[in-house]
Amino acid sequence: MKIYLGYDHAGQSLKEPVLAVLAELGHEAKDFGSKGDNNDDYPDFAQKVAEKVQKDPASRGILMCGTGVGMAMVANKFHGIRAAFADSVELARLGRAHNDANILTMAGRMTNEEVAKNIVKTFLETLFEGGRHERRVNKITALENKL
Ligand code: RB5
Repeated sequence: MKIYLGYDHAGQSLKEPVLAVLAELGHEAKDFGSKGDNNDDYPDFAQKVAEKVQKDPASRGILMCGTGVGMAMVANKFHGIRAAFADSVELARLGRAHNDANILTMAGRMTNEEVAKNIVKTFLETLFEGGRHERRVNKITALENKL
């Protein structure tokens, strides 16, 4: 699967572990992350990745900033994007199984490397359950179309 990656200076600490687990799982990583500027801004990276995932529905995005919160806020402004924050494997699993999330956001300043790798693996391997969850996700899409 094609995975678009974005991170600011505060999310950069998770770059190597995330790239390593993507390579291990055989995914194609497209890196749109920080070039190391300590004053860079998370919305710029979130926008890039959200636009890529919007145009390529078979892909997924992974965004990291200090908390994962700002990245989720920006990505969720984009039509068709369902960005889910996770700091545990269980949140990553539920974000996929129940919410059909297509972007994962993580906290570079608060999530350790091993946990982050397991979160990524779970996010990419968990299928959407559909059923009653599909009805709910369809309501999100209906709201997006209306607003
Ligand atoms: C940057 O200092 C920090 O505010 C940013 O990475 C992120 O945590 C925002 O949500």
